[in-house]
Amino acid sequence: MDRIVIEGGRPLKGEVRIGGAKNAALPILASALLTDGWNTFDNVPNLMDVQSIERLLSHLGAVVERGPGEVRINAAGLKNSEAPYDLVRKMRASILVLGPLVARLKKARVSLPGGCAIGARPINIHLKALEEMGATLELKGGYVEAAAPRLRGKELFLDVPTVTGTENILMAAVLAEGRTIIRNAAREPEVSALADTLNRMGGRITGAGTSVITVDGVSSLSPVSTAIIPDRIEAGTFMVAAALTRGDVLLKGCDPAHQGALMDKLLMVGAKIQVEEGGIRVRGGDTIASVDVKTLPYPGFPTDMQAQFMVLMSVAKGLSVISETIFENRFIHVSELRRLGADIIVSGNTAAIKGVPALSGAPVMATDLRASASLVLAGLIAKGTTVVNRVYHLDRGYEKMEEKFARLGAAIKRIRD
Ligand code: EPZ
Repeated sequence: MDRIVIEGGRPLKGEVRIGGAKNAALPILASALLTDGWNTFDNVPNLMDVQSIERLLSHLGAVVERGPGEVRINAAGLKNSEAPYDLVRKMRASILVLGPLVARLKKARVSLPGGCAIGARPINIHLKALEEMGATLELKGGYVEAAAPRLRGKELFLDVPTVTGTENILMAAVLAEGRTIIRNAAREPEVSALADTLNRMGGRITGAGTSVITVDGVSSLSPVSTAIIPDRIEAGTFMVAAALTRGDVLLKGCDPAHQGALMDKLLMVGAKIQVEEGGIRVRGGDTIASVDVKTLPYPGFPTDMQAQFMVLMSVAKGLSVISETIFENRFIHVSELRRLGADIIVSGNTAAIKGVPALSGAPVMATDLRASASLVLAGLIAKGTTVVNRVYHLDRGYEKMEEKFARLGAAIKRIRD
């Protein structure tokens, strides 16, 4: 398994281009199942999770071709409605084929995604919505079997503003009979990006980006050519890295409109932020002030940035408190940060971080995608050498992260095992 070795202490300087958003690419690639011609998706990141969903779409009968940064998908030959365990277990967002399969093939047999390191990750809200829209569901042998001659539009209320739940429902409702209203819908930019794509295919969706989304079902959709939006979490990770190393980094190709909560906190920390043409420049301040954070659904502070921000707080002046309200077990990185000298106490879903003058390098273990990103960030400032093991977690959501950091001046390299 690959490792990443970092010599800490170098400020990051220069420009970095932010890639396409993993969490927009996954639902948008799945939406190709709703059409029967060639879709072209540009700015698709080349990540393990994206490769996983490409494999699943091929398994279902779609033709998937990958070019440089581009993916072309033709689902005219879609015939298989089963997403098997060995594919779904590798990437739980595979559940995103459920809605499109029921909408297009009138049935689906999808392996239930297990939990993962950060939580149980149930899909009860996805399933309840499909049932309310007229699907019959059966859970057996670790699979959900769904069938519906034609889904009917319905007024739905989501118990939790689930991101992939909202996305699954959009892809089911877009071809349903009549009007669906989704209340307490997720407002993430990735949901809006999917809705924009479905509308370009001929869908009739209004309200995406707000908590009430209205979908008027249509009889069929046509293939499209579109580009994936920039990855706001990759961008946030580099913004924190610039503040952390007291560097000066210009992020190109990202959307400042998606960074409100994080930019607000980074300004409070003492970083300097300038929104420039097509990008964001972040410069570290002379000191790092301690700032409290509570993760919330968008547009609140993103849970996917919690681990990265905790590294910044681990060397801030004073005490900060981070509350994780989205997932029940998303502090796994704390024990690894402690190995680097961080002073953090966890009680339930709250972590208290007492800033220390410096971290010191050590071997650490990545456990989930964003936790592994936080360990790389910690290595950038820790005195001496940090070795991050099991970086396959990192490769699920960051394309060539170590190369991007090296180009910004970090002493970082990947050791391939
Ligand atoms: C999406 O996961 C993202 N993944 C996650 O990013 C992100 O952390 C999360 O949204 C929150 O922003 C993708 O978009 C592929 P949720 P998702 O359903 O949709 C509960 C990363 O690092 N819930 O919004 O699975 C759930 O338990 C990943 O890129 C139910 O109770 O998250 C959680 O507590 C990690 N029942 C909360 O809602 C359901 O049916 C939010 O989960 C669904 C969710």
